[in-house]
Amino acid sequence: MAVTIQQLSKWKKEKRSIVALTAWDYSIAHVLDEAGVDVILVGDSLAMVALGHSTTLPVTLEEMIHHTTAVCRGVKRALVVCDMPFLSYQQSISQAIYSAGKVLKETGVAGVKVEGGYPRMVETVAELTTIGIPVMGHVGLTPQSVHRLGYKQQGKTVYEANRILAEAIALAEAGAFALVLEHIPQELAATITAKVPIPTIGIGAGVHCDGQVLVTADLLGLSVKQPPFAKSYVNLREIITNAVDKFAREVKENKFPS
Ligand code: KIV
Repeated sequence: MAVTIQQLSKWKKEKRSIVALTAWDYSIAHVLDEAGVDVILVGDSLAMVALGHSTTLPVTLEEMIHHTTAVCRGVKRALVVCDMPFLSYQQSISQAIYSAGKVLKETGVAGVKVEGGYPRMVETVAELTTIGIPVMGHVGLTPQSVHRLGYKQQGKTVYEANRILAEAIALAEAGAFALVLEHIPQELAATITAKVPIPTIGIGAGVHCDGQVLVTADLLGLSVKQPPFAKSYVNLREIITNAVDKFAREVKENKFPS
């Protein structure tokens, strides 16, 4: 049965951990879905892992729609969420409604993700939710603010931790259906997870979240560079290199085709 937003809430109550991964094309999405991943995020990290940019900032709404449509074609069960790219939703609430609405209309996703929990973003989430666009929030390290925050852990001081907690609560009250907690201390993630009624999905936020997400290129050992909290479960870079070497050797030695 297809995963729904209601199912995610049920899993939080049942303490059944939610398994989330990113995808950027049809093939990866098809494999993840058949492997039983619950939530597939078309993260704007595709700017880096699929398009070769050095940050997530350059990816456009059109590029996100292009990749998300391909991902949706590969998925039968998982709940698919599309990251709203930088500058497609921060300018005004009407810009956010237009961009998120366009994503929902054109791709087949169940919801969108936006970064930040400052007052105007909370208002934006409330408006999107009111008109029927499900929104996943994202607090802590928000990569679209890399030029202000860097990639360092957030929420280390009491002041910062309280701010992030307040943002998470405000986003939940505004109607967000889930929250990504990125690169924050695990005690803070545990507090947020206990205080908000919606599922928290952690990345570099410890074990006390309602679910975990990784960038799939990191999990597969494909990324050129990966954050310290990521874990590779296989070294596909090495496996692919060996396969390509073997192919090249067989071509040069006239062994392929046989
Ligand atoms: O863009 C992305 O891949 C993300 C995950 C790190 C949650 O936002």
